[in-house]
Amino acid sequence: MRYDESVIEQVREANDIVDVVGQYVRLTKKGANYFGLCPFHGEKTASFSVSPRKQIYYCFGCGAGGNVINFLMEYENYSFTESLKSLADRAHIDLPEPSGGGEDKGSRERRRQLLDIHKDAAVFYYKQLQTPDGAAGYQYFRQKRRLSDETITHFGLGFAPKASDALYRHLKEKGWGDELLHASGLVTIQERGIRDKFWNRVMFPIMDINNHVIAFGGRVMGDGIPKYLNSPETDIFDKSAHLYGLNFARKSRRKFMLICEGYMDVIALHQAGFTNAVASLGTAFNEKHARLLKRYTDTVILTQDSDDAGTNAKLRAFPILYEAGLKVKVLDMGSYKDPDEFIRAEGPDAYEACIHKARNAFLFMIEVLRRGYDLSDPADKTAFYSETADRLCMFREPLERDNYIDSVSTEFMIPRDELKSLVDRRVETRGAGVETVRSMTGYTAPSAARKDRRQQESVELVQTAGFFDTAEQARSHRPDGQGGKENAESSMSLIRAERLLTAWLCERPDLGRYVFSHISPEDLSSDICREITGMLRDDPGSFTAAAFLDRCGEDEEKRKAAAAVFAILDSGTALEDMSKLDLEKGLTEAVRAVMNSRYDREIRSCGSDMTALGKLLQEKNRVRNMQIKIQ
Ligand code: CTP
Ligand code: MN
Repeated sequence: MRYDESVIEQVREANDIVDVVGQYVRLTKKGANYFGLCPFHGEKTASFSVSPRKQIYYCFGCGAGGNVINFLMEYENYSFTESLKSLADRAHIDLPEPSGGGEDKGSRERRRQLLDIHKDAAVFYYKQLQTPDGAAGYQYFRQKRRLSDETITHFGLGFAPKASDALYRHLKEKGWGDELLHASGLVTIQERGIRDKFWNRVMFPIMDINNHVIAFGGRVMGDGIPKYLNSPETDIFDKSAHLYGLNFARKSRRKFMLICEGYMDVIALHQAGFTNAVASLGTAFNEKHARLLKRYTDTVILTQDSDDAGTNAKLRAFPILYEAGLKVKVLDMGSYKDPDEFIRAEGPDAYEACIHKARNAFLFMIEVLRRGYDLSDPADKTAFYSETADRLCMFREPLERDNYIDSVSTEFMIPRDELKSLVDRRVETRGAGVETVRSMTGYTAPSAARKDRRQQESVELVQTAGFFDTAEQARSHRPDGQGGKENAESSMSLIRAERLLTAWLCERPDLGRYVFSHISPEDLSSDICREITGMLRDDPGSFTAAAFLDRCGEDEEKRKAAAAVFAILDSGTALEDMSKLDLEKGLTEAVRAVMNSRYDREIRSCGSDMTALGKLLQEKNRVRNMQIKIQ
């Protein structure tokens, strides 16, 4: 803990969230809350809300949320401490010295040391290129990859020698200790002793936007396996939050960014004059990447590999980028595998021509979809139209949606009015937006599925907050009549129930006596709901949403989950507007859902013990009759 909780609270309470957010976002009062255009993703309808009573903000579009301290962290890209200091200034509060301040300073110092180690390592690898040992690496870059000396220097490329501990010995001589070296991820401790992570590879230093080396990628020079080896995640390297080449690309004068797949693609593009190219680092493109890019540009052109994997990467990145408010296009490299090969064969001008011809990402997506259907078969044709209509629901703005309906119907020869009525029906029952499309088509590839499920959860939750089963109802009206995925659904309605319960308890801790007589916080499956309800049970008087968010500190995932929980009442029927009967019904349903899941868990784990099983089944049967009555 850097500052005492009481200090944090004092600063938070001296800064009304509506005033602070109001300095950045134009807010309009609607009912108990304020609404405005979300500053964290591009949107045209206001889904960003600020609750003066709970002192939190939450965006129903992108899920950003937190208290006033978190707002500045997110908006100004401040650390927790920076945000706190700025708010203290604003309210003329003198911050005392942080208690246990050594730790904060300590971890900053450690980060600095890790950066220094990486810098030393980068210089070492770079210098190796000029030694006889490193000649192979130098030849590889110059001849095989056609890189100039300038490019090699610009990107700080290097070579890790054959000896298995060359870097380790060098860094030891420089005075670095084993513990830090191990923490840097550059050496590994094995039975035979300490060895370098990288040897006999050409090296690509990975830099953050301030040109600090934070990690490395290393490539074999021939056909060895693995082709690329990357630094592990460390205190200074979170690969999901960095884009290779962004340190240069952000200074590019061009108005768009090129997204490609690999180190060599970025380097080849920059060498050819396309200094606005970046790549995600051996990891799927995610929301953090998108937000990072949004700081520097409004338009991205996807130029990942031309194979199936690359096509999937584009299809996955598109909705993420679209949600972040970016315009997305897709570049066609014809028969070439990647930008590196294209440029080597065709040259920069030909690539520039491809940029000019880059295609709208949505139309590209429909084109890929069409390839999977035989349009001379009526069944296939119908399915293609239906899937196309599903995807058109991703546009929330009716005007934008109509424009896409026009383009798609012209280009793919689908009767416009029929297509429009297919789309309208879907939007009416399911709503519009990227998440809706995800839940209708399940179109994200498997590796991204886990995260998507979580987002889908929170959106469904928001849509149904305050009353049950609307999502199920909507689903049963699905044009294609598919209900499917029972397990996913039941776990989703469980989470929905847990979140509603948690939110209601936050608002009205007095309801605890009706809830905790049937279930305990430990019965809940969601971590965040378990934690919050646990506090509400143990110390109901002192719980507030904004203070809880402070305690989440820099744990972004947790804070967002909590903000989503706190926000659900603002999205649907507010608790105070619910009749006693509705509230009783709601509580009863939610508590039953939790009880059922607890019994299911116990039943599953009681194995072949028939007596226990019988008893559990009986108890579970009684859940159906459980009714909560509020006195
Ligand atoms: N990658 C990785 N680990 C691997 C293979 C690939 O981390 N075993 C990452 C690297 O960031 C690499 C990118 O995925 O740059 C793209 O890989 P791939 O398409 O296989 O290679 P290219 O970039 O075409 O590499 P090269 O041209 O050097 O063969
Ligand atoms: Mn390549």
